[in-house]
Amino acid sequence: MRVGVIFGGRSVEHVVSVRSARTVVEGLRTAGHDAVPLGIAENGAWLAPDVAARTLASTDKALPVPQGEPRATLRHLLDARLDAAFPIVHGTFGEDGCLQGLCEMLDLPYVGCGVAASAVAMDKLLSKRLFEDAGLPVVAYAVVTRAAFAADVAAALAACAALPEPLFVKPSVGGSSVGCKLVKRRADLAEAVRFALQFDDTVLVEQGVKAREVEVAVLGAAGALQASAIGEIVPGGEFYDYEDKYLKDDAKLLAPAPLPDDVAAELKRHAVRAMDAIGGAGMARVDFFFLEGERRLALNEINTLPGFTSISMYPRLWGLVGVPLPELCDRLVRLAVERAEGKRRLDAGLRAFVASQK
Ligand SMILES: Nc1ncnc2c1ncn2[C@@H]1O[C@H](COP(=O)(O)OP(=O)(O)OP(=O)(O)O)[C@@H](O)[C@H]1O
Ligand SMILES: [Mg+2]
Repeated sequence: MRVGVIFGGRSVEHVVSVRSARTVVEGLRTAGHDAVPLGIAENGAWLAPDVAARTLASTDKALPVPQGEPRATLRHLLDARLDAAFPIVHGTFGEDGCLQGLCEMLDLPYVGCGVAASAVAMDKLLSKRLFEDAGLPVVAYAVVTRAAFAADVAAALAACAALPEPLFVKPSVGGSSVGCKLVKRRADLAEAVRFALQFDDTVLVEQGVKAREVEVAVLGAAGALQASAIGEIVPGGEFYDYEDKYLKDDAKLLAPAPLPDDVAAELKRHAVRAMDAIGGAGMARVDFFFLEGERRLALNEINTLPGFTSISMYPRLWGLVGVPLPELCDRLVRLAVERAEGKRRLDAGLRAFVASQK
């Protein structure tokens, strides 16, 4: 199949996406697919496949930024004559349903979660509400909106009064730990909320937990998702912050994570239920906290386009359970095509119904 690997993008995770694309292109080609690299520069412009291919073949960290108006460059996607797309643009405009919506408009099968699940997973408040609804464990939290904070700081923060210290503050929509702060003294809470409000209009104030960070990869069609082995991130600092993710190299990745069997089994069950709760399909990495002392798990978040670099957890965790990279990429593309066929069948059913009413 002719598969467009869409990478780069406008988010702060552009450089990670370039590395992810190198792995995905290699996996697809080894599996026998014709992988067409389609890059999105940091200004949102789409690049011709040969330009994107040059970046992938080099040691460049980012795609070149072309001059001119980005919108007309969408022709590179339209001209690529793809059978399917493999979007691997992490973060905003890539992981949040925007790119998925574009593929839907073009009737182009695409790897990973659909529009709604992608958008919900990107919004930590929306996804938490669905997790709670499904009876999944999450850490205690309160919500502070920009409007409430602007109207009356003390009243807005009163919602957090029941949460014990330390507190953990984060923008509801965000990523890469941007805007996150661990607050040890309640006197510092307002400042941390103000900081997080620079990145979103809604801020979550969570109970700060001292926990191990464990994650599991899921793969499969809706209702038939499978969970991989489990991985663990051991942050270099107090928490897994922006510096730790991109600037330093102190965090350790353990795969598999040393966990008791019953905890591992529960984590896998929770991961699949969490994906079902947001209507997710295809792939995702589901991140948890393991509060070892209490032997308790709490679901943190779902990443619908997880890191796919040669050392990233998602491909590594599948490798551990006997799904090598080429097979993984191939299965993801097949799932994308099957899901698109299912949607087309539904659409045909709808059309037939409407026609029968005339
Ligand atoms: N309630 C919490 N208590 C303690 N530490 C937390 C808590 N929530 C998050 N953290 C720490 O902050 C890091 C980032 O938080 P989170 O994963 O929620 O957002 P994000 O990483 O910005 O999102 P994404 O993973 O999509 O980029 C976590 O990996 C963890 O180290
Ligand atoms: Mg995270």
